[in-house]
Amino acid sequence: MTILALETSCDETAVAILRGRDDYFAPELLASEVASQIAAHGKYGGIVPEIASRNHLLHAPRLLDRTATVAKIDLSDVDAFAATSGPGLASSLMIGASIAKGLAIGFGKRYLAINHLEGHLLSPFFGGADGDREIRPNMSLIVSGGHTMLVRVHALCDYQMIGRTVDDAAGEAFDKVAKMLGLGYPGGPEIEKLARDGDPNRFDLPRSMLGSENFSFSGLKTAVRYLLPKLDERSPTRTTYKFDERVLSDLCASFQQAIIDVLVTKTVAAARKYDVELVTVSGGVSCNQELCRQLREACSRNGFEFKDAEPWLCTDNAAMIAFAALFRLQAGFESQVTEEIDPTLALA
Ligand code: KG4
Ligand code: ZN
Repeated sequence: MTILALETSCDETAVAILRGRDDYFAPELLASEVASQIAAHGKYGGIVPEIASRNHLLHAPRLLDRTATVAKIDLSDVDAFAATSGPGLASSLMIGASIAKGLAIGFGKRYLAINHLEGHLLSPFFGGADGDREIRPNMSLIVSGGHTMLVRVHALCDYQMIGRTVDDAAGEAFDKVAKMLGLGYPGGPEIEKLARDGDPNRFDLPRSMLGSENFSFSGLKTAVRYLLPKLDERSPTRTTYKFDERVLSDLCASFQQAIIDVLVTKTVAAARKYDVELVTVSGGVSCNQELCRQLREACSRNGFEFKDAEPWLCTDNAAMIAFAALFRLQAGFESQVTEEIDPTLALA
């Protein structure tokens, strides 16, 4: 069973080809390509939907050719074509979904519409050579630039929403604070790098809504905004600041620790409350090694098994979409090519 998947929900164009095997928990990734558009949007300070969709149109045909070459297969040998059908930017989703539908119709093959969040959520099981034969029940923390949520996974396709952010996503908070500090986009990796040498206890920043299963990060972002002018009295405009290196790394470390404390506390509390044995984490923010280290430790202290995904699988990619599609196909799911994309597609 060979699946080709496209992921174009936001500003990354990605194509992957995955081959399922009899021991289907360890499918073989034949090719996976991601074309980043960070440079194209950088000067606008955020994603411009029209630029994103134009770039998807430019990159997708090239990536299709490249993945087929790397995988050494002809597209006519693919058994099913999959694409992210939501949530995401409508004009971006439409490109990947239209290409996958066109290929499915042209080659007379099956089409699968995949939820982007399901792709993230299943990614810690990718390459599950460590003994799993199926998606086991778990408490899943999805942390990305657009989403922060806790999902109780009963089984494949059986998900229960436990909590979600009421304002900013965790990755969005990293990106916005990085921007305030004059760091590059995406902000998460920049802040993590600087935080390595910093003191996480130097600045007292808020941990919001600890008693709730939902998340809120906008208060933390605002607290950083109010702190900045106090740390730089030389700034005449209060829109750009200058800090010495020590202050900057302490600030990054304190901010990162505030996010980690919230994510770890709520995830462990939810895992306890719903009595699961396994905790998983996925999404771009789970590239953060300090987050994964502290989550792993907290899980071990509380008797939970812990699984994360490899960093290349944490940020947006098409391998995770192909992986979800393979599971869905094996479970008997199939989509109609008439199925529309849905920018607000829910997971549960
Ligand atoms: O999953 P993803 O690629 O896209 C969405 O679906 O949103 O996540 C991107 C987000 C960005 O906000 C980025 O700053 C964050 O993941 N991120 C990180 C790290 N690497 C990426 N956040 C914290 N630490 C990191 N090392
Ligand atoms: Zn994502």
